[in-house]
Amino acid sequence: MIYLTRRYRFSASHRLHRDALSEEENARLYGKCNSPYGHGHNYVLEVTLAGPVDPATGMLCDLSQLDATVDREVIQRFDHTHLNLDVENFRSRVPTTENLCVEIFRLLETKVPGGDGVRLERVRLEETSSNYFEYEGEHAGALSRRRV
Ligand code: NI
Repeated sequence: MIYLTRRYRFSASHRLHRDALSEEENARLYGKCNSPYGHGHNYVLEVTLAGPVDPATGMLCDLSQLDATVDREVIQRFDHTHLNLDVENFRSRVPTTENLCVEIFRLLETKVPGGDGVRLERVRLEETSSNYFEYEGEHAGALSRRRV
């Protein structure tokens, strides 16, 4: 078993706000992240795959295929968007970086390239230089998340 992590970058804006809450409750819950016109982040995304080394190629997977998948599923979808307004993914969910991290995992989970036994191990999403989130799927640590 070997692990491959590839780093990507995209920029997007968001506003942390729930329509179900009052203005005061939103302001209390989200602070300046509730600012009406939103604010931006330069997200750093790390995608980690796990699997065996393919004896025919000596590689876990073809990096250009991974790049194409992440570009199609994540970068083109989210880069230079306002997450609340521009993408379907956050019509009914607050686009916190926690939710964005989980959403990116779901978008990639069944689409990662590679041969038998290669799986998406983890998505790590850095919002600022001070904090990041990691998601390993709902069955993290279980055999059931292995691709067959
Ligand atoms: Ni923010």
